[in-house]
Amino acid sequence: METMSANYEDRDTLFNFVVKEGNGVKGLIDSGISCVPQPFVQPLSERIATPNGQTCEAVQPIDISQLDGPCHTEVAKQIVEAAETLGFFQVVNHGVSVELLELLKMSAHEFFEQPPENKAVYLKEVSPSKLVKYGTSFVPEKEKAIEWKDYVSMLYTNDDEALQHWPLQCREVALDFLKSSMAMVKRIVEVLVEDVGVILEEERMNSLMGTKMVNMNYYPTCPSPELTIGVGRHSDMGMLTVLLQDGIGGLYVKVDNGDWLEIPPLNGALVINVGDTLQILSNGKYKSAEHRVRTTNIGSRVSVPIFTAPNPSEKIGPLPEVVERDGVARYKEVLFQDYMNNFFSQPHDGKKSLDFARAD
Ligand code: OGA
Ligand code: NI
Repeated sequence: METMSANYEDRDTLFNFVVKEGNGVKGLIDSGISCVPQPFVQPLSERIATPNGQTCEAVQPIDISQLDGPCHTEVAKQIVEAAETLGFFQVVNHGVSVELLELLKMSAHEFFEQPPENKAVYLKEVSPSKLVKYGTSFVPEKEKAIEWKDYVSMLYTNDDEALQHWPLQCREVALDFLKSSMAMVKRIVEVLVEDVGVILEEERMNSLMGTKMVNMNYYPTCPSPELTIGVGRHSDMGMLTVLLQDGIGGLYVKVDNGDWLEIPPLNGALVINVGDTLQILSNGKYKSAEHRVRTTNIGSRVSVPIFTAPNPSEKIGPLPEVVERDGVARYKEVLFQDYMNNFFSQPHDGKKSLDFARAD
């Protein structure tokens, strides 16, 4: 251990090993380190103090199967209220089978627990497919401290390409997950948009949801969780995110008073959160949630988010009907491609991403 950690004290050596050569945080752990190397040590302001017991008991999971039944009004109201306040909620009876949820978690472990050379082929610079990208942290070359997370992201174009290019360990389950949850996601977006008094034409809806990506995140067990962060404070850039988390916990959302509330693991449930695009379209009525992930030393955590976002060529801005009612446009119209480029050009910094579209 002495020699290993001595080597890693050189930032470049560590950066090359973890990020550039694609060994990941997982490879670092497997190399036998017993303390956190300096480049992963977060400034005090970003560290998460010992997990406080505050969980979102107040936010009951929503039974989404009731949305189009006799309780429609009630369920729609729950969704709207959650999107207006926390920007986060959990859903049950969502139509994705428990078996598939289990398979997803297993295949995430399977993918990340392969030898590093099998994963490194998907590093951005060398990936055989533009659809697949494997890496560590968010924008590690620009971050003050590297996030304690490896990920693989799989962009969806069509079924055939997904089954051809996505990694073998996860292609089928990830595609099943995407396909079995997409109707629900669209329905939730419809409900939210309807509540601001807008009915979107199908074509516009499809353009707003045209970018779909399934990620698998792997947060290796960490020798000193109090020094590191799994994912730093951020909001998601798209419309809605659907997230499967395992039983380990550590996902936090920021509430109005500045406190962080844990979204507790709930077996069989899926987490839904509002992204920046929906905040912009709704002129601020819906809140893209600022969230982050704590690390732990009890085991490696996996999560599987599905991100939905507009087509890059789509212009996004507050819906005209909403601006008319509000009497003010809080955001300007931007090309989603530009929003995305800006989003990926800077390290996570809470909801700063939204400034790109803020009205002057
Ligand atoms: C993300 C994210 C949360 C989690 O990937 O954007 O916020 O629990 N993940 O992994
Ligand atoms: Ni996120």
